[in-house]
Amino acid sequence: MIGRSQSQPVIQTPMPPIKPATTASDSPPDLASRSQAIRRRLLAWYDTHRRDMPWRVQPGQPPNPYHVLVSEAMLQQTQVATVIPYFGRFIKAFPTIKHLAKADEQAVLRLWQGLGYYRRARNLHAAAQAIIAEHDGRVPGNVADLLSLPGVGRYTAGAIASIAFDRPAPILDGNVARVLSRLCLIEKPIDATDTRKTLWRLAEQWVPARRPGDFNQAVMELGALVCTKANPSCADCPLSRECQALRAGRVAHVPVPAKRKAPVQVDHHIVAIERRGRFLFEQRPENGLWSNMWQLPTAEDLTGKVGPMTLGVWAESRFGLMAVNPKPLGSFTHQTTHLTIRFHVWTLSATSGRLRPRSGTWRNTAKLDDLPLANPQRKAVAMLIDA
Ligand code: ADE
Repeated sequence: MIGRSQSQPVIQTPMPPIKPATTASDSPPDLASRSQAIRRRLLAWYDTHRRDMPWRVQPGQPPNPYHVLVSEAMLQQTQVATVIPYFGRFIKAFPTIKHLAKADEQAVLRLWQGLGYYRRARNLHAAAQAIIAEHDGRVPGNVADLLSLPGVGRYTAGAIASIAFDRPAPILDGNVARVLSRLCLIEKPIDATDTRKTLWRLAEQWVPARRPGDFNQAVMELGALVCTKANPSCADCPLSRECQALRAGRVAHVPVPAKRKAPVQVDHHIVAIERRGRFLFEQRPENGLWSNMWQLPTAEDLTGKVGPMTLGVWAESRFGLMAVNPKPLGSFTHQTTHLTIRFHVWTLSATSGRLRPRSGTWRNTAKLDDLPLANPQRKAVAMLIDA
């Protein structure tokens, strides 16, 4: 049984300063001598400030490892408030790991529709199948076995091992990295290899043997509610007396953001081909962006000026259909991690020709419930409906 102890009183003894790691002569940042005080303060804070979440159990209750696995997959790159309704629908559709392993991938993607980063859904589905095949249907509790599952990296393995199995495994996500880099005043780009190494070492140092799952969630909660990226509430922070960035007046400058390459700008043309009130939809390839999801035919490789002829020729070469009378419906921009995509939406009418076998399906826009569509495609469908 995984239990939580009662909160402990916060002992307000003056703390000697911890050394910042900003100059070459300094020793590397270290939390070993401070960990006890930090753990005590943070766990006491968590006991009064933890938010209820559908995958979090009440103190004293055993966590459900399947719920933790699903929630951690959904929470990667995504905020708690966004995840909550998706988590509820997902667990209702697939109440156990067995249900998920047996599910059709399209049904899994449908329930992920709108959450983005769809590879997570496919990996989670594959992980459920691996857990049935190789782990007797039980989510493994140790980091090495967890790391062998599709889509499970060091962060997720540590989160599941600590939250679901009470193992003292470290975690490092954006929130934890921000808290640690402020606490220890690490003024180097947050994504640099040596910064990552330092942060993982600190995360290993401070995770406690008692209540490691609560501790890890407490740090994430502190990062989400108090030690926020903009306008952190240092006056309400249980670690303010330990915080080197606060002491040095550098909170607003730490962490130092990663240097990102500017996204590449591209134009994609959504070619909505209509025949007798229905539109053609196609499935995307198995690899790459939005893999295996569905879409209105989308030309990603047209260069130069795109005119009415171009779209008709493209439609014919791709589907074997004659499509005429192109009309522009409008354009919108969608941002991905690496691309700024300007989508241009067109309608065309199919006049003759036979759709190549297995190249697509004709659908009424009111009957798309079984087709997983990414957000830009949903937007394009809404434009068709409004036209
Ligand atoms: N982000 C990722 N996992 C989380 C968790 N268990 N609690 C709060 N935020 C999280």
